[in-house]
Amino acid sequence: MNCKNTLKKSPKLVVIGAGIAGVGAAGKLLTHGFTDIQIVEASSQPGGRIRSSLFGKSTVDEGAQYIHGASGKNPIFQLAKEHGLLQDTHDRVDPELSVLTNMQKQMDPDVTKEVKNLASSILKHAHLIAQQKQYTQANSLADVYLEEVKTLIAQWDGDHTDLRRQKLGLLSMLMKWQCDHLAAGSLSEVSVHVYEEYKHIEGHDRNSQGLFPNLLQKLLEIIPREKLLLNKPVQQILWNGSFESEDNSLYPIKVLCEDGGHILADHVILSISLGCLKANGQSLFQPRLPEQKLNAIQSMGFGTMNKIYLEFEAPFWDENTEVIGLVWEEETPLSCQEPNLTEWWKRVPVFYVVGPTGRYGHLLVGTISGKEAEFIESLSLQEVASSLTCLFRQFTGRSSLPELKNVFVTKWFSNPYTRGSYSHISINSTGDMIDLLTEPLPQATEGNGSPMLQLLFAGEATHRSHHSTTHGALLSGWREAERLIDLYSTK
Ligand SMILES: Cc1cc2nc3c(=O)[nH]c(=O)nc-3n(C[C@H](O)[C@H](O)[C@H](O)COP(=O)(O)OP(=O)(O)OC[C@H]3O[C@@H](n4cnc5c(N)ncnc54)[C@H](O)[C@@H]3O)c2cc1C
Ligand SMILES: *[C@@H]1O[C@H](CO)[C@@H](O)[C@H](O)[C@H]1NC(C)=O
Ligand SMILES: *[C@@H]1O[C@H](CO)[C@@H](O)[C@H](O)[C@H]1NC(C)=O
Ligand SMILES: *[C@@H]1O[C@H](CO)[C@@H](O)[C@H](O)[C@H]1NC(C)=O
Repeated sequence: MNCKNTLKKSPKLVVIGAGIAGVGAAGKLLTHGFTDIQIVEASSQPGGRIRSSLFGKSTVDEGAQYIHGASGKNPIFQLAKEHGLLQDTHDRVDPELSVLTNMQKQMDPDVTKEVKNLASSILKHAHLIAQQKQYTQANSLADVYLEEVKTLIAQWDGDHTDLRRQKLGLLSMLMKWQCDHLAAGSLSEVSVHVYEEYKHIEGHDRNSQGLFPNLLQKLLEIIPREKLLLNKPVQQILWNGSFESEDNSLYPIKVLCEDGGHILADHVILSISLGCLKANGQSLFQPRLPEQKLNAIQSMGFGTMNKIYLEFEAPFWDENTEVIGLVWEEETPLSCQEPNLTEWWKRVPVFYVVGPTGRYGHLLVGTISGKEAEFIESLSLQEVASSLTCLFRQFTGRSSLPELKNVFVTKWFSNPYTRGSYSHISINSTGDMIDLLTEPLPQATEGNGSPMLQLLFAGEATHRSHHSTTHGALLSGWREAERLIDLYSTK
């Protein structure tokens, strides 16, 4: 039988989640003439992981902040340009890293640069190194990194002890920084294939503090207000069924909301985070998702990276400092670093200076990932402030520092509608699993005459080559919208 014959003229569409993937999908569908669309969003505002908060003199980004690959090839950059939003943004071209150690030393910038380049070259080539050394699927970034680092360290035998200790501490710091980029607990959790799957877009990273919420607003402008339902968490999705509406039409899907309401649909685009799918994937769907898909959800990597914003009365850093690196001289990349939550601050590798001062005041933003990142969400801001004040005293050797006026910590892990920050390729997963997660249901092979493309999967984690980013999320939303546009245009 030909399924297309059963297609309705104006299908009922539900988009779950009003992050950039969901908003992007709905926008594209509306511009292609689909009118019966509801976006169902759990929280009180759209945006998801695009979010800003008042802090100090201005607002700061809790989530996305950089355009990764600022060029015409990046749809986020392209849209930001079209909407004239790029004026306060600037390329981050190899930022000046100023490294302090816990022994009150300032590391030589040339040494810093050299070690940083060595480390990033190892990571960048990890999959090639793994190939040469015939590592298997199960090998992690840490396996490659540590093996290569051993060779490096051997070459540093001639260095005097202080310099050697600093370089080792710096390598360890760079590992933590990399974990922040990946939202990973440790490099041993991340597949060696991660940089083979993830594709950089041409162009620098563009620091776009404050841009993303404005861009999201622009995307929302084409969506009639009544099509966006806020404060409406979805509890369960009944699919592959036959549900009758008040006007006696039949729909294959019934979306049940926590408030007791329900919405019938022909197609659902799901854009909730992988963290939410991991937490609720077993119970969210009726019938259950195919085992393979559930397995992909459990195996794929998704971790927490949080930001710690600090506002000072006056700066204690030099005017041209862009990033302050914190090196613990007793650490080496080879020393086993089990998380010690009582010393969570050791997991903060860097603080970025947030500028310009005229707009933000004297702001730093630190990054933290792993168990420590989850842990600090439970601390009071006073605790965070006093620990970090001690930390800066220790590293600068100054007993009195300018007063810390304000602290803000993001809470991506305990946010029930995110449950972490973004995805990576874990040692238990592959790029193929991303495609598996993305495959619409019911599967083409088991269609059996049941309506096609009932459940479509979008969101950051479903984009194989640009996962973890806003452009990946947006492209994933557009991709799923296109699937439906294609389905209804090939009559
Ligand atoms: C700290 C941090 C820093 C980042 N930095 C960058 C960066 O610099 N550059 C970059 O490009 N990207 C960055 N990212 C990643 C980027 O923010 C995300 O990839 C992107 O915003 C994800 O969009 P999404 O639509 O896939 O998911 P989300 O934004 O998570 O949207 C999903 C939506 O679904 C809703 N939802 C969840 N459960 C339910 C439910 N049961 N019912 C109804 N609605 C539900 C959520 O509330 C949310 O609004 C960062 C992320 C974080 C957390
Ligand atoms: C990988 O899978 C094993 C076995 O299920 C599990 O113990 C381990 O925690 C997983 N590791 C990661 C990084 O997901
Ligand atoms: C969906 O419904 C069809 C037709 O009733 C059935 O053959 C198929 O097994 C169902 N699929 C699932 C995953 O329940
Ligand atoms: C964790 O850090 C605390 C405080 O410095 C220390 O007392 C404790 O021994 C450490 N725990 C482990 C397991 O190393």
